[in-house]
Amino acid sequence: MRYIDHGQGGAAEVLHVAEGLRPAPRAGEVLLHVAYAGVNRPDLLQRAGAYPPPQGTSPVLGLEVSGHVAALGSGCTRWRVGDAVCALVPGGGYAEYCVVPEVHCLPLPAGVSLQDAAGLPEVCFTVWANVFRIGALQAGERLLVHGGSSGIGVMAIQLARAFGARVATTVGNAAKQAFCRELGAELAVNYREEDFEAVVRSAWGGVDVVLDMVGGAYAAKNVRLLARGGRLVQIAVLGGAKGEVDLAQIMVKRLVVTGSTLRARSIEDKAALAQELQVQVWPLFATGAVRPIVQRVYDLADVVQAHRELERSQHIGKVLLRVGGGGMA
Ligand SMILES: NC(=O)c1ccc[n+]([C@@H]2O[C@H](COP(=O)([O-])OP(=O)(O)OC[C@H]3O[C@@H](n4cnc5c(N)ncnc54)[C@H](OP(=O)(O)O)[C@@H]3O)[C@@H](O)[C@H]2O)c1
Repeated sequence: MRYIDHGQGGAAEVLHVAEGLRPAPRAGEVLLHVAYAGVNRPDLLQRAGAYPPPQGTSPVLGLEVSGHVAALGSGCTRWRVGDAVCALVPGGGYAEYCVVPEVHCLPLPAGVSLQDAAGLPEVCFTVWANVFRIGALQAGERLLVHGGSSGIGVMAIQLARAFGARVATTVGNAAKQAFCRELGAELAVNYREEDFEAVVRSAWGGVDVVLDMVGGAYAAKNVRLLARGGRLVQIAVLGGAKGEVDLAQIMVKRLVVTGSTLRARSIEDKAALAQELQVQVWPLFATGAVRPIVQRVYDLADVVQAHRELERSQHIGKVLLRVGGGGMA
């Protein structure tokens, strides 16, 4: 099969199409004939050597795909060969075939194409786990999402609105600002021009939940902005892993400062998230309350440009790779 090799790692130019063996599904796993794969920021880190895959998983990049079930490992009961699915995969998504626990596959949401579904698993699992489970966002509460135009951000804004929360967000330019407002963010702060802490404080006084992928100097501001009982959920540290916060504020306001990574969760935990998504989130695509947002689709052979696009950070929503297109195994 064709897959993307990143050799010894490095800049985007190390990525190239290679030929390799089709993986074989183990017990409880299905083999997917991949149609499209999502490109995620963690792929850039893994390519550069800063994010090694967990033991026992494919060294090939790629954390989410859409495609068709091509073979069943022993004990699989949920899918039949030929079913169209999207899946959160532990690695190996940038390839014509990849294996995944059958419990990490989901049907395509009603009205969503095979192509667009490839960009849903990573962002939906992450937002559901961090905003709704860990952050326990409630209807009527105020959510601050940093990186509002990112793949994660556009899903966080839409889901928070769909569940009745109010949303403020930070972005790096005017086009992203306008887009996030259209998606339903009441406040969209261009952090290159304005101080998000001052803007949110003057409009709302404070927030109940912060979903933060930046860290660094944002930590102190996040903690200052959180209202009594507020929750700060850290999902990345793009702006630095170290920050200084006023611990007295955590104490006095009874804040919860927490975070998580998706890839390290157990198979069972991700399976539980998948079930919750199917019940709570998938129906929102049918009603139009939530939609996939795709910036651009690249052919597998153009993977270097796809990574460069994410590195430029001008995109809004997801960047995808066309691996095998819509055909069957
Ligand atoms: N913990 C988890 O479970 C988990 C799971 C998936 C993803 N993540 C993380 O969540 C983040 C978003 O993922 P994604 O795939 O949606 O990424 P993405 O689409 O590439 O978005 C990242 C965004 O962060 C913003 N940003 C703010 N400060 C930045 C900085 N110092 N350097 C680079 N970008 C900065 C950029 O927008 P502006 O230019 O507008 O600021 C950029 O669009 C990533 O950091 C990823 O590693 C975490």
